[in-house]
Amino acid sequence: VLLILAFGPGLALAKDKIVLGFSQVGAESEWRTANTQSIKDAAAKEGITLKFSDAQQKQENQIKAIRSFIAQRVDVIAFSPVVETGWEPVLREAKRAGIPVVLTDRSVSVKDESLWVSFLGSDFVEEGRRAAKWLVDYAPVKELAAKGEVNIVELQGTVGSAPAIDRKKGFEEILKNQPKFKIIRSQTGDFTRAKGKEVMEAFLKAEGKKINVLYAHNDDMAIGAIQAIEEAGLKPGKDIVIVSIDAVKGAFEAMIAGKLNCSVECSPLLGPQLMSIVKDVVAGKPVPRRIVTEEGVFPQETAAKEFPNRKY
Ligand code: AHR
Repeated sequence: VLLILAFGPGLALAKDKIVLGFSQVGAESEWRTANTQSIKDAAAKEGITLKFSDAQQKQENQIKAIRSFIAQRVDVIAFSPVVETGWEPVLREAKRAGIPVVLTDRSVSVKDESLWVSFLGSDFVEEGRRAAKWLVDYAPVKELAAKGEVNIVELQGTVGSAPAIDRKKGFEEILKNQPKFKIIRSQTGDFTRAKGKEVMEAFLKAEGKKINVLYAHNDDMAIGAIQAIEEAGLKPGKDIVIVSIDAVKGAFEAMIAGKLNCSVECSPLLGPQLMSIVKDVVAGKPVPRRIVTEEGVFPQETAAKEFPNRKY
């Protein structure tokens, strides 16, 4: 009886606190670090107990983490899937256990759409379109196109991930009406600076001065590539026009230094919206199936003015 009296109120309190299991992709980029911080801060602010797991860019680790959240009977599972496919079995397990799943940042490709309740994140296809639209309108590139071909090299994100697939798709959708614009090389840089540098070195070795433009699926790969371009004795932002995605502080610094020409925004600050979805799901309130993050485009000439306002 004493035990029940002693633990009774504590147990009641613990039960009132929402428990969220979150499986993060990893720590591959400046964007991802900001995203993790946003989620941790928002959970703390809302008094939500966060069980956080870092998958180090491996799907098998995410599946393990989700299974462990199910075993711990968390109230909600949220995750940012490293790749789009291969999620059905583990999501069915979550559904059977009655645990709602919220997709954050990236989506999954599953036949049974009842396996997740809400998807919060950017429209990656639109980001790819925005990068291409900026490029075809950029005066120095227009001049090049007037004279001849515009040779583009592309650094793709993680193979099989939603942002890599969609950003490629959106970019190509705009360029298909631009016969002068050619993607001459395209390879994954896995969303990291180190890989971005390594693959750009290979592009430069193979194509040299033929390269007019670099399109990088994120800023980190662009920043790595900038180093490779400089080491090859070329001027990033001038000899090679560079457009990338995320608009992290590192990209603004590169733009202010004249080494990056444009960054398309992809906001990692998803924590507050995620916590509000989690609270609504637990309260049994209806939640939107899809919430698209609002974002802008930052060409180099806006960088110095915008930099002090950047939060990530
Ligand atoms: O899913 C969002 C992407 O993942 C960001 O653009 C990239 O920087 C991150 O690693």
